[in-house]
Amino acid sequence: MTTRTPAFPEGFLWGGATAANQIEGAYDVGGKGLSIQDVMPHGLQTLSTQEPTDDNLKHEAIDFYHRYAEDIALFAEMGFRTYRFSIAWTRIFPNGDDAEPNEEGLAFYDRVLDELEKYGIEPVVTISHYETPLHLAREYGGWRNRALIDLYVTYATTLFERYKGRVRHWLTFNEINALFHFPFMAGGIELNRDDVEDADLYQAAHNELVASALATKVARRVDPENKIGCMVIAVPRYGLTPDPADQRKAQEETQLDFVFGDVHVRGQYPGHYLRLLREKGIELDITDADREALRNTVDFVSFSYYMSVCESADPARQTKGEGNVVGGIPNPTLEASEWGWQIDPVGLRIVLNDFWDRWQLPLFIVENGLGAKDVLVDSGEGKTVEDDYRIAYLNDHLYQVGEAITDGVDVLGYTAWGCIDLVSASKAELSKRYGFIYVDRNDDGSGTLARYRKRSFDWYRDVIASNGAVLRPSHGEDA
Ligand code: BG6
Repeated sequence: MTTRTPAFPEGFLWGGATAANQIEGAYDVGGKGLSIQDVMPHGLQTLSTQEPTDDNLKHEAIDFYHRYAEDIALFAEMGFRTYRFSIAWTRIFPNGDDAEPNEEGLAFYDRVLDELEKYGIEPVVTISHYETPLHLAREYGGWRNRALIDLYVTYATTLFERYKGRVRHWLTFNEINALFHFPFMAGGIELNRDDVEDADLYQAAHNELVASALATKVARRVDPENKIGCMVIAVPRYGLTPDPADQRKAQEETQLDFVFGDVHVRGQYPGHYLRLLREKGIELDITDADREALRNTVDFVSFSYYMSVCESADPARQTKGEGNVVGGIPNPTLEASEWGWQIDPVGLRIVLNDFWDRWQLPLFIVENGLGAKDVLVDSGEGKTVEDDYRIAYLNDHLYQVGEAITDGVDVLGYTAWGCIDLVSASKAELSKRYGFIYVDRNDDGSGTLARYRKRSFDWYRDVIASNGAVLRPSHGEDA
């Protein structure tokens, strides 16, 4: 039996996370322009529609735009020390290339920050979370076009100046490495993945990396207290068998996942990536100014973690699981969520150790959680969801975070994804619920939008209040 000391440091940032397009609604209110999400009514399943359609749940979402005060009060009741949210680019610059920012949009986030300050909740702001302005996607070709670098930097600068002293932690792009998997959602490139030219995809990645680095530079200039993080999807990729060819395949795919983190942390491209580009015959448009810009490296690395996958070099074994949205083969040793996302708490400890060993920068888990079909029941004391499955998932993952901290990894905080039910990014439905707070809204758009505390709400409040002391060993581990 091992002896464990309390793992979570004082000041650990416990909280929750959301994204503007998945909660705010009010998609055409307050001078807001259209974003790519307004023409993605079905998430990743169909690419886009020409115009916004009525079947888009994100148009009203959970109406956070009007109910933010009530929602933040509930976060405070759980004891949140931090709240990660994103700013909708199109509330600030409706078309993305407007000469002046939209005051009504800026004022909305002032009001959100007022509420957070009331409860002493530290904001973590994602500057761009899967919602490139539609105008930039359609008229400029999305991130393929270098013009977006300056437009993004103008937008980011506007935020840094406006919210100076109020926001200290900034994330430049949500899941920046998702560009290789979902070029429309992550890069505003309105094509199916297989129809995007490699050269365009890698150039878009470069443009985003330069934009991120330049924003980092400006953030420090505006306020030296600012802390800037990159944000990547973390997916451990295990070799399907001990065959070295499978292990090498896993390494190769992992290196590709890591490129974005490498550039953000080290300020230059790794050799294996330059080799890949050479062998594909791709010559990126990289200027000397770009190389200089990339030297503005980040203060911390943040990431989302939901699942792991396996990799095999054998073409005959390339079976794709329903839920493996970022490639890979389902792991025969793991169970999966109702959406096929394989559940792997130990994978989170592996990621934390790998990232720490590789980058030696503080890490921030800014997304993790279980999407599940919840049933609202009457407990006698009011309506609730008895979501013991979510509690088990979160307990097991957080326990592994504690293990990683005990391993010596520097972890700044943990924000549970979709701390209040929201519209799913990949499926654009409400029945894939992550929250501690149930929102009465259904896939057909019906519902009162009333909020109810789930059983996990009380559990998470206890986790935070005890600074993790109530967490139990994961299934199968000793106490
Ligand atoms: C991450 C995204 O990929 O996963 C979020 O940053 C998303 O926007 C989350 O909601 C969970 O995915 P989904 O498809 O279940 O909503």
